[in-house]
Amino acid sequence: MSPIKTIKTMNVQTVVTQPFRDQKPGTSGLRKKVPVFRQPHYLENFIQSIFDSLEGLTGKTFVLGGDGRYYNRQAIQIILKMASANGVGRVLVGQAGILSTPAASCIIRKNQAFGGIILSASHNPGGPEADFGVKYNIGNGGPAPEKVTSAIFERSQVIDSYKIIEAGEINLDQLGSQQLGGMTVEVIDSVADYTELMESLFDFNQISQFLKSGQFRMCMDSLHAVTGPYAQAIFEQKLGASAGTVKNGMPLEDFGGGHPDPNLVYAHDLVEIMFGDHAPDFGAASDGDGDRNMILGQNLFVTPSDSLAILAANANLVPGYKNGLAGVARSMPTSGAVDRVAEKIGIDCYETPTGWKFFGNLLDADKATLCGEESFGTGSNHVREKDGLWAVLFWLNILAVRQQSVEDIVKEHWKTYGRNYYSRHDYEGVEIDKANILMENLRSLLPELAGKEYGQYKVKYADDFSYTDPVDGSVSEKQGIRIGFSDGDRIIFRLSGTGTQGATLRLYVESYEPDANKHKQDTQAALSSLITLADEIAQIKNTIGREKPTVIT
Ligand code: G1P
Ligand code: ZN
Repeated sequence: MSPIKTIKTMNVQTVVTQPFRDQKPGTSGLRKKVPVFRQPHYLENFIQSIFDSLEGLTGKTFVLGGDGRYYNRQAIQIILKMASANGVGRVLVGQAGILSTPAASCIIRKNQAFGGIILSASHNPGGPEADFGVKYNIGNGGPAPEKVTSAIFERSQVIDSYKIIEAGEINLDQLGSQQLGGMTVEVIDSVADYTELMESLFDFNQISQFLKSGQFRMCMDSLHAVTGPYAQAIFEQKLGASAGTVKNGMPLEDFGGGHPDPNLVYAHDLVEIMFGDHAPDFGAASDGDGDRNMILGQNLFVTPSDSLAILAANANLVPGYKNGLAGVARSMPTSGAVDRVAEKIGIDCYETPTGWKFFGNLLDADKATLCGEESFGTGSNHVREKDGLWAVLFWLNILAVRQQSVEDIVKEHWKTYGRNYYSRHDYEGVEIDKANILMENLRSLLPELAGKEYGQYKVKYADDFSYTDPVDGSVSEKQGIRIGFSDGDRIIFRLSGTGTQGATLRLYVESYEPDANKHKQDTQAALSSLITLADEIAQIKNTIGREKPTVIT
């Protein structure tokens, strides 16, 4: 980097800078290691690129907060000074810099803010050498669509200066208004607006009676991440669940050294409790920034794809959705379980590329009410992000009404709709070149795959998923390789767009079994021949040199 040159205008400094080549936002914002973000000008360049790509931000309101990970507070101070220098009128900041991703979305919408900046690397680990991230959300409360993120990236590639004011630090712990140059900073309660929104959707009285009845025990693991204060306020204080219901409820900068990802591998403490002796009736976990969820019953893991289908099938039991669903949407690799519910109740079901941003238009146009991804993301039109605690409350509301165990509800669902056996195999930290070769080889195979037979499997279609947004007509290509078989089974290959180290290859495997008498089988066993076939077609072991996946969910 060249030496800093500053030109002082009042207390606004214009700092000369040069572009960083690697500021292309991925599936969910810009994610890099903390040391990358802490390089001189790195964060500033990206933030200025955001401001430069927005038209008419002068005097407008923005929302700012993060999941509390390492570097959250420092980044907030920098962003506030830059917002002021760029003419922003008001910024609403979560107390202590804390806002879960769904709460930020809720606050943007409630205040009709121009947009918001969320600081998070979601479920990736935190700490001085771990991950950090910056995501821009637009006025509907949802992640910026591709045309906005592309504009930000393009700007970042030619940026030559950024603006920042010279000022002291804002006190982020004290609620209320403070002045920063010409801009007002309002430090707001991180939890209140979100709690109010949840109360408007779910039957808090019924859930509360159920939780206090003494016949039902739940365990919520916040994994030392952002939902701790939200979960304590909602489950323990508001709904009266017993003290200690929320575990690991104190947000820590490094998430206690853990990996704040609510799946069977990383939320192992909760998994041990729920699969152990005297397990509670219901278990749930959420991720770093609170948008993901995992749902467990006694000795039972509910796949996110099944969870979405079950919420859709039971939505009429929940006050906020009792008037019916406009439609449902799922990402392409998510299992087709929800499709069967949509078919039965006669509503549309949309298949979108991976990433929550693709649901935004469908929600805005009221084409879909519930959305979900296999990656532990579920949500609705109440905000424009997936929402972990919302999913937990939705399940609690269903359980309180139906007074059945999680297992009974899931098994009844399978009996009615059939079971979509589903699993994702992740190969993390793969050499980028090898991962690209694997994908390119697969792409070149596609034209000759259709009609090909592999033992019991006959390929019905093989393509690279392309999506045309039904609302604005925008086209997103190369969204994952799909190989579908004539009996409805599917295998899908994608490279992750959120990793920060090497490449992550994701293999998604799905098989549908309508016969309830055959539903007892273990998932990996039920899918084993498809998994073997996936390796045969893609030559995973040979190409990336891995014997087995890093994480299986
Ligand atoms: C992953 C998930 C995707 C989710 C995203 C953000 O993206 O697969 O469903 O929307 O994280 O939470 P990926 O790493 O696969 O690009
Ligand atoms: Zn997340």
